[in-house]
Amino acid sequence: MEPILVTGAAGGQQGSTGRRVVELLLGRGLSVRAMVHADDARADALRGLGAEVVAGDLREIADTRPALQGVRSAYFTYPVVDGFIEATGAFAAAAKEAGVERVVAVSQLASGPQALTPRMRQHWVAEQILDWAGIGAVHLRAAVFFENIALLARTGDPAELAMPMGPPETVLPLIAGQDVARVAAGILADPARPVDPVVLLTGEVMSIAAVADTLGVTYRDVPPDAWHRWALDFYGSAHPAEHLSKLWEIFRLLGEGTGLYHVTDTIHRHGGHPPTTLAEFAAAPG
Ligand SMILES: NC(=O)c1ccc[n+]([C@@H]2O[C@H](COP(=O)([O-])OP(=O)(O)OC[C@H]3O[C@@H](n4cnc5c(N)ncnc54)[C@H](OP(=O)(O)O)[C@@H]3O)[C@@H](O)[C@H]2O)c1
Repeated sequence: MEPILVTGAAGGQQGSTGRRVVELLLGRGLSVRAMVHADDARADALRGLGAEVVAGDLREIADTRPALQGVRSAYFTYPVVDGFIEATGAFAAAAKEAGVERVVAVSQLASGPQALTPRMRQHWVAEQILDWAGIGAVHLRAAVFFENIALLARTGDPAELAMPMGPPETVLPLIAGQDVARVAAGILADPARPVDPVVLLTGEVMSIAAVADTLGVTYRDVPPDAWHRWALDFYGSAHPAEHLSKLWEIFRLLGEGTGLYHVTDTIHRHGGHPPTTLAEFAAAPG
């Protein structure tokens, strides 16, 4: 059986979508080649589950070429750090050369050439590169991961969620990393499934105060500049600090955003499971 290549397979700070996709595909009895960044204890855990593990840097064509050899389908993810376009190029070139026919790639809900955060614009460029490669790309444009906010709620004062989101009524679209993975696994496991090249994914729409309450903390509005300085230190890089500062600004400006966001039926349709709620996630973060 040809293996399905899953990148970002060790999981990380954001949604661990790659690790979840590996688990779901193996659970369906499919053969998985898990590409990790470092061959560490997380890689051993993937071997323990039955995955073939390859280690490499997605930005490096000398690593992506062997990883994609003999592969027909793949999941592509790269964290919110520098090097995304480089990694997309090295992945797309190797996938095209290998004759890959289906790639499911994670993108962001508002990806576009004029999107308001630099990372969202990069996601749009990445979508173009994958499309040009002719490798059957499907772009999962996902809302904010529960894990992203839960991480912030666990940081600093344990009883509060300190973010520059303006009034407590400010609304944001959300999704569980597990639901992104379910959709990716559903599409990868069924090559004959009809699927649009762009799939919007939102699992829940909530105010920031309701988010904090569901996570068992209190929301506190903080000045954007102070949050940006804090984020530079916390994430250790300008890339996520810049992206997230702009993202929170968008939500702050849209405010209650009545009618702007809605839960999509795509999670249930492709993932085979109704959207996970934040309350369910909070009870069992996984
Ligand atoms: N966070 C959100 O709210 C959100 C919302 C919508 C869309 N997204 C999108 O979701 C994607 C990230 O999600 P995720 O769940 O995959 O992130 P994640 O949980 O942070 O996992 C990223 C994985 O990529 C690996 N990695 C990092 N640099 C690498 C490199 N140079 N070569 C090979 N592997 C590398 C990491 O390994 P190491 O840990 O060993 O470095 C890690 O295992 C991004 O494209 C982001 O824009 C995020």
